Amino acid sequence: MLFLIKLFGGLIAPVFFSSLLYAKDPAPLVPNPLLIEKGRKLYVANCLRCHNKDPNIKGSIGPEIVDAPYEVMYSKVMTGKYPDSLPKGFIPKRKSRAMQALPRLKNDIPAIWAYVQSVKKKKK
Ligand code: HEC
Repeated sequence: MLFLIKLFGGLIAPVFFSSLLYAKDPAPLVPNPLLIEKGRKLYVANCLRCHNKDPNIKGSIGPEIVDAPYEVMYSKVMTGKYPDSLPKGFIPKRKSRAMQALPRLKNDIPAIWAYVQSVKKKKK
């Protein structure tokens, strides 16, 4: 028994807790071309109705979305609304509430976010 506790404390615990740490970040650490391509298709199929083909530019109804952190995109797609408490430094592009929720895309949000970030232009 003591042996097991030692093993958990010394070996397994650090691995276990560090995996929790990384699991909190839903965005891939390294850009994944397959995920980005999947995200591009999903973006075209679901978001172009209102947003621009180029996520850096405003679309017919929706604004540019490259500046929205993951949790903002997650909230917009799941509920149509901005999160109740906004991430530090983020300013919503609009005060309207015109976006429709698309919660069926729940599991696809990391791919869409990865695509949008992959085409984000650096501000000069
Ligand atoms: C029915 C039109 C419509 C569709 C479809 C739509 N959006 Fe939006 N979106 C908007 C509008 C309008 C806003 C501005 C805020 C508002 O009125 O809700 C917005 C805002 C956003 C924002 C916040 C941008 C910012 O920086 O303030 C993100 C992120 C976003 N949309 C992502 C998406 C994604 C991803 C999809 C596709 C899965 C999508 N939207 C589909 C209309 C739409």
